[in-house]
Amino acid sequence: MTSKVKLYPGTYKNYADEIYKAIRHETFGEDIGQNSWLTADEYREMFSLLGLTGKSEVLEIASGSGGPAVFMVKETGCSLTGLEYDKNGVDNSLKLAEANGLTGKTKFLHGDASEKLPFEDDSFDAVCTIDAINHLKNRENVLKEFYRVLKSGGRLLYTDPIVVSGILTNEEIAVRSSIGYFLFTPLGENEKLLSAAGFKDIRSNDVTENMSSVSLKWYNAREKRKVDLLKIEEEDNYNGLQKFFKIVHTLSSEKRLSRIMFYAVK
Ligand SMILES: C[S@@+](CC[C@H](N)C(=O)[O-])C[C@H]1O[C@@H](n2cnc3c(N)ncnc32)[C@H](O)[C@@H]1O
Repeated sequence: MTSKVKLYPGTYKNYADEIYKAIRHETFGEDIGQNSWLTADEYREMFSLLGLTGKSEVLEIASGSGGPAVFMVKETGCSLTGLEYDKNGVDNSLKLAEANGLTGKTKFLHGDASEKLPFEDDSFDAVCTIDAINHLKNRENVLKEFYRVLKSGGRLLYTDPIVVSGILTNEEIAVRSSIGYFLFTPLGENEKLLSAAGFKDIRSNDVTENMSSVSLKWYNAREKRKVDLLKIEEEDNYNGLQKFFKIVHTLSSEKRLSRIMFYAVK
């Protein structure tokens, strides 16, 4: 599907530009190359939930720029395979792994994670995906695939930033989903599908606060640099992205669209 507003290709292509680095720094504090609502401290907590060690084999679905992947490997010593749909993201990930001396510990593949995953059964100790499951078609199949590729006792962790927890207008839904394919999930649906896929010890935690604060900081950091960003970004796309960040903030601060973290065990 062609999106009206482009967020991912430009962000990954321009990853190393000073202006985008400055925006990430102002938005996230600790810049780990994230392109989501994730902060570094939140990710560290996830590493311990996933029980990551130097022996863990991790699959990161929708690995984006590769920045969070490199951060995970450096912090925990794990080995990581990333799967990402955006080619600029994969290219950037390969560059980052090389620059950090981690080519032996990482693999980055280009592919659509809505499809059957290109891995054997029982391959990974952990599967994680941050703020991306909403872009994958057919949640039921996606969760079954995560289950299939996890080893017995392996752990799954993902955030779903598109859980409907209040009333939304058609215009709000259109702007919130203007950057690509989106699934809007009712409260309770993830738990039901995780259980149907065979997962046990299913837990969830409301992590909407990060989305609310990060989206506002991201909007402000871009607005402050509007003149310079307009030399790089098409005006329509710049305006579309600003509208997008604003609606993310409104809907999350009013708790009408929630970001929920899910944890489950095979
Ligand atoms: C919000 S970003 C999160 C990226 C990364 N997890 C992070 O935290 O920085 C969502 C990512 O999902 C990727 N994506 C979208 N559709 C996908 C698909 N069908 N298969 C794999 N990745 C996909 C996008 O290209 C984008 O990199």
